[in-house]
Amino acid sequence: MSKVIGILTAGGDSPGLNAAIRGVGKAAIRKHGMSVIGFRDGFRGLMQDRFVRLEPEMLSGILTRGGTILGANREKPHRMNVGGTVMDMTDLMVECSRRHHLDALVCIGGGGTQKNALRLAEKGVPVVTLPKTIDNDVWGTDVTFGFDTALGIATEAIDRLHSTAHSHHRIVVVEVMGHNTGWLALGSGLAGGADVILIPEIPYDVEAVAESILHRRTAGSTFSIVAVSEGAVEGPLRPGGGDLIEDAPGPDVTAEPEVAALAAEVAELRAAVEGNGTARMSRRLEDLTGLESRVTILGHVQRGGTPSPADRLLATRLGTAAADLIAEGGHGVMVGVRDGEAVPVPLTEVAGRRKTVPLDHPWLETARSLGVGLGRAAA
Ligand code: F6P
Repeated sequence: MSKVIGILTAGGDSPGLNAAIRGVGKAAIRKHGMSVIGFRDGFRGLMQDRFVRLEPEMLSGILTRGGTILGANREKPHRMNVGGTVMDMTDLMVECSRRHHLDALVCIGGGGTQKNALRLAEKGVPVVTLPKTIDNDVWGTDVTFGFDTALGIATEAIDRLHSTAHSHHRIVVVEVMGHNTGWLALGSGLAGGADVILIPEIPYDVEAVAESILHRRTAGSTFSIVAVSEGAVEGPLRPGGGDLIEDAPGPDVTAEPEVAALAAEVAELRAAVEGNGTARMSRRLEDLTGLESRVTILGHVQRGGTPSPADRLLATRLGTAAADLIAEGGHGVMVGVRDGEAVPVPLTEVAGRRKTVPLDHPWLETARSLGVGLGRAAA
C-alpha cells in the first residue's frame, strides 16, 4: 500500500515555505508513489482536520511564491485557543494523524515548531521536520531557509539608507528582525557596510556606540549607519556571551499565548509612552553626539515576497531529502544541512535549543577586523 504523508507549515511565515512543500510533495508523489495532504494553518488545521489533497497540479507554479499556500500560525498543540479557552489539543491531533493513516507528518517551522513536533512524536506521531525561519536560529542545522532572502532584503535596505544618511550627515539606526539572535543584523550589517552592529548576544553600551560614531566623525565621515537587531539590549557583557540570551527582551514568539499576549500589550503600552527601544536609543545617540538621527524599522517586509535562489535551492533539497527519509521509514528527526549535506538530526536534540551567534564567530571576527562598532569598548 502506498504511503500517506501530511504537511503543515507552522510559526511565522518565511520565504521558501512553498519551495519546501513542493520539494516534499513532488518527490513523495513522483519518486515514491506516496499520496500527500496539506493541513491548513499550522497545527490548527491538524486539530480541526482541515486539509487539502496536494495533487501534482497544486504543487506546480509555487516555487517562487512567498508565504505558504497552506497558511500558518503560531499556535501550539498543547495550548490551543478553543472558543476563548486555552486547551491541550494534542490528543485530537494524534487522532487526526491516525485517521488519515499518516506514515509521516512533515512539520515545517522554526524553533517553536521543533518543540511542538516533538510533543506529537512523543505521543506516537511519526514526525519529520524542516528548519525554516529568517532568524537562522534553529539548532542542528548550519542554516535555515528564509534567512538568505531576509538577508538580501535587509542588506538592500541598508544600502539604500546609506545615500540618505550621507546626504543629510545623519545617524541612521536600522532595526533588523531576528528574534533573540543576531544572525540577520550581523549578516546584513556586514554585507551592507554598517558602521555599528548591535546584536542580542553582545549587550551594548550606548556611550560606546556614540563613541564609535564620534570617532568616525573625527576621521571625516559625517554619517553613520547603526544596524540593530530587534532583540539587542543595553547592559553589561555577560560571560559566555552567545548562549546566555534567554532574558533578552525581543518579542517572545515561543511563549505561552497568554504570556505572549500580555508581553505584547506591555511592549505596546511602553512603546506608546516611551517609543520603541530602537527609537529610544536613537534619541540618546542624538543627545550624546549632537548629531541628527533617524530610525527605520524594517519589520515584516523582511519576510515577504519571493524567496532567493539560495533559499529555493535549500528548501527544495531538504524537502526532497525528507521525502526520501520517509520512504525509508525514518521519523523523529529534523532534516537539516551540515557541511552542505542534508542530514537527519534527532528532534530530541533540536527541540528547546537555540543557535545563537558565538562570540568567536568568523562574522564577528570580520566585524572587529573592519573596525565595525559592536556596542562595547572592546567586544
Ligand atoms: O521568527 C521570525 C520573526 O519574523 C522574528 O524575526 C520576529 O521577531 C517575529 O517572527 C515576529 O513575529 P510575528 O510575525 O508573529 O509578529
